[in-house]
Amino acid sequence: MSEGGNTSYTDSIQRAAIERFPLINVRGVPLMNYIANNFDSIWDFTPDPSDLLIATYPKSGTTWTQEIVDLLLHNGDAEICRRAPMTERIPLLEIFAPPPIPSGLELLSKMDPPRVIKTHLPFQLVPPGFWENKCKAIYVARNARDNLASYYHFDRMNKSQPDPGPWEGYIHKFMRGELSWGSWYEHVKGYWKEREERNILYLFYEDMKENPRREVERIMRYLELSLADDVIGRIVALTSFESMKDNPMANYTFIPERVFVHSISPFMRKGEVGDWTNHFTPEQLRMFEEDYEKQMNEFDIPFRTNI
Ligand code: A3P
Repeated sequence: MSEGGNTSYTDSIQRAAIERFPLINVRGVPLMNYIANNFDSIWDFTPDPSDLLIATYPKSGTTWTQEIVDLLLHNGDAEICRRAPMTERIPLLEIFAPPPIPSGLELLSKMDPPRVIKTHLPFQLVPPGFWENKCKAIYVARNARDNLASYYHFDRMNKSQPDPGPWEGYIHKFMRGELSWGSWYEHVKGYWKEREERNILYLFYEDMKENPRREVERIMRYLELSLADDVIGRIVALTSFESMKDNPMANYTFIPERVFVHSISPFMRKGEVGDWTNHFTPEQLRMFEEDYEKQMNEFDIPFRTNI
């Protein structure tokens, strides 16, 4: 690892054969082929009881939560939290990619617990060792409309994801659970069902936007930390959208431009609640909502599409 985001990890991505990888179903969940082909070793991963899991459906505020957690664990020390790109500080558990990119399991094997581990796997695909070892887990959910809009732009700019095609068709793929990591509906419901029994802290992107300090404090208490008021204030400032957009260790500019094309759509795109209004036609929204009621009807998860 060296300075300025120019790490061996970045370099490995520069040299790898990247394409828009096809998806392969693992127990009904479409995953990038490299992940699917290595799923057995992912499933066998055994965390340390001190490890912390951050789980999300893609594009629901993962990076934001990772930065908050890293700062909380380092008493708000911005410099320490710029020690490496996010992908190395908090590896994605299930990532497997063409050589020489190291897998998430390889990165984790070189870190000492307690580690923070990111996953986009739906609850049923998370290695059971996390629950057997009673690891703490934070889940972040984002309302479906904004999550969909954010994922669409991400799939445009991320050249390792399947081509999103036009927006109209993308809505249907989202509703049918055909995007990488599967159905948003099953994802948010899966963790919701388990949150009490597994002691999962279930957060909402919209709550974080509405009152970031309240949510940072909620995470702090869950982690059994007690930080000074001014440190909490600093963490809130350092994890604002504007600060993170300017932070080269958090804004994903460390991923080479041949994979993440920020000129198509920046990773730190808008960071708002309600951007969905700029995407759906009235007819698309009617159809989406009709389907939403069917998929979510037996669950009362308090999502908000506006704040
Ligand atoms: P938009 O595409 O709507 O802007 P993830 O980290 O799960 O991939 O989620 C990315 C989404 O979270 C993007 O949403 C990104 O802009 C937003 N985001 C990242 N950091 C944020 C922050 N500090 N505050 C608000 N939103 C943030």
